[in-house]
Amino acid sequence: MRNFSEKTLTAAVLKRVAGAPDRRTRQIMHSLVKHLHAFVREVRPTQEEWFQGIQFLTRTGHLCDDRRQEFILMSDTLGVSMLVDFINYGKVGKSTESTVLGPFFVAGAPEMPLGASIARPGTAGEPCAVSGTVKGLTGEPIAGAVIDVWESGADGLYDVQKPGGTNLRARFRADEKGRFHFKCITPVSYPVPHDGPVGRMLAATGRHPMRPGHLHFTIEAPGCEKLVTHLFVKGDKYLDSDAVFGVKESLIVSYRKNSAGEATCRYDFVLKPAGLKRRRPPPAAKSAPAGSPSSSRGRRRPSPGA
Ligand code: BEZ
Ligand code: FE
Repeated sequence: MRNFSEKTLTAAVLKRVAGAPDRRTRQIMHSLVKHLHAFVREVRPTQEEWFQGIQFLTRTGHLCDDRRQEFILMSDTLGVSMLVDFINYGKVGKSTESTVLGPFFVAGAPEMPLGASIARPGTAGEPCAVSGTVKGLTGEPIAGAVIDVWESGADGLYDVQKPGGTNLRARFRADEKGRFHFKCITPVSYPVPHDGPVGRMLAATGRHPMRPGHLHFTIEAPGCEKLVTHLFVKGDKYLDSDAVFGVKESLIVSYRKNSAGEATCRYDFVLKPAGLKRRRPPPAAKSAPAGSPSSSRGRRRPSPGA
């Protein structure tokens, strides 16, 4: 087939990708083409605007390396990371809610004994004692749960964003009763990296780059679904405008002073059993964009190669 027009092109591209042998690839490519073409039909970009879009993505890619992941940042700031999280994690019973991983997790953080400080001596910031438990849905302690913790410094930067080596991150193991405790610094609000294309997108849309103060956690245990979450600081002024849409009420905690004047924070995490994934097949499209086939609802997909 040749001589496509604005009217016939989408259907032709959809037909071409319908030949993908893998069913999931077929489904993903069908949706990608359908929505991308619909976007272009709606926006009707000039050639210059389309090229600006290509340059934006090119600059985003060029900024990515093992220390900076501008594509994750773009996904986070456009709410896509949280959408994927809602689809895949959700909440079951009293299970602790999840939120974004963010780009500053580092695998292989140093393992520390319970009670240790993740802040190297001399680290700026208000010392803070964190404690809590890791339990299952029915309240049973999860002995030996592996807890990774990381946070930014008082200057708002993570260790991987500056020279000086590992700081403010560690791995702990819950004790036989599922309990944990460690020291850190009280988290502060900070801007996501905004000196690149994502920063320009935020500025162009009148948005600030700030995240409310938080401690990052991942918690893993055999037979449980891995939890990726934060504990946000109650009262932080950015709780309602987090640049990455990650705040959930259930994850906001008080960082209270104890009698010795030290900030403290307590949280009991609840893991859910593995295998309760919530991902559902996408709902059938309500209407097809102009120029596309009348939608695949009620019609059999062409078999590969058709
Ligand atoms: C973070 O909290 O570390 C983070 C999350 C998303 C984007 C940038 C940073
Ligand atoms: Fe963070």
